[in-house]
Amino acid sequence: MTVHFIGAGPGAPDLITLRGRDLIAACPVCLYAGSLVPEALLEHCPKDAKIVNTARMSLDEIMAEIGSAHAAGHDVARLHSGDLSVWSAMGEQLRRLRALDIPYDVTPGVPSFAAAAAALNTELTLPGIAQSVVLTRTSGRATAMPEGETLENFAKTGATLAIHLSVHILEKVVSDLTPHYGVDCPVAVVWRASWPDQRVVKATLETLQTAIGAEMERTALILVGRAIGAEDFGESRLYAGDYDRRFRPVGTAPRFPETAE
Ligand SMILES: C[S@@+](CC[C@H](N)C(=O)[O-])C[C@H]1O[C@@H](n2cnc3c(N)ncnc32)[C@H](O)[C@@H]1O
Repeated sequence: MTVHFIGAGPGAPDLITLRGRDLIAACPVCLYAGSLVPEALLEHCPKDAKIVNTARMSLDEIMAEIGSAHAAGHDVARLHSGDLSVWSAMGEQLRRLRALDIPYDVTPGVPSFAAAAAALNTELTLPGIAQSVVLTRTSGRATAMPEGETLENFAKTGATLAIHLSVHILEKVVSDLTPHYGVDCPVAVVWRASWPDQRVVKATLETLQTAIGAEMERTALILVGRAIGAEDFGESRLYAGDYDRRFRPVGTAPRFPETAE
């Protein structure tokens, strides 16, 4: 018996990995974090599967469900939104499973920051502008930020910021960032990236509040930085004709002439 933690992706039901889909189809028990995991994914469950929405359950109750499945020898598909490596509460579940000697594995998913960047048709790292992406959030009711992990500190680097769980305090986010990025810095807010009701607002730090109006739905990502929508950047050396690459040493024919790489 194994508990399979599966990244369910950002919302569109076809943005799950084939491995994740196949695991759902093979497990007689499915526990899913109901608030953000699309119900359409549950259609992959076997007909007689036990399907439990854990949105309102405590960690103890979730572990009790897993314990029952373990006792019955039933594999469990455990679905969380996006990818599991960020803000999934997977860490505490894995620690309990280790203590109980219950086997588990992890299948990654498409994170919401990637879906938001895709909605903007943008690359978050552009030569000469930004070469780092900071995945961050602000303090919430349940989670305080560790000292040092402030928006101001991240902003000082000039990296592209992908700010989660913070659209409800947009005004403060904008005022913390403006001194570092400048009023004309591009910013985008993407609500429910990849869902049918996805909404995108592109603006600058100065114009964002007006551009958004009264929209306050919480499932949104704020992307900030000079790379957002930039046109004025250098080309990467990767595809330069005189760049000596491992697979295409200068002066030789491409090793894979039919492909870009
Ligand atoms: C609890 S975190 C989960 C993050 C998730 N594990 C991931 O990989 O993106 C929830 C936050 O992620 C962001 N988020 C999740 N899904 C989103 C989506 N489809 N569109 C925009 N933001 C999303 C929002 O900032 C939301 O408040």
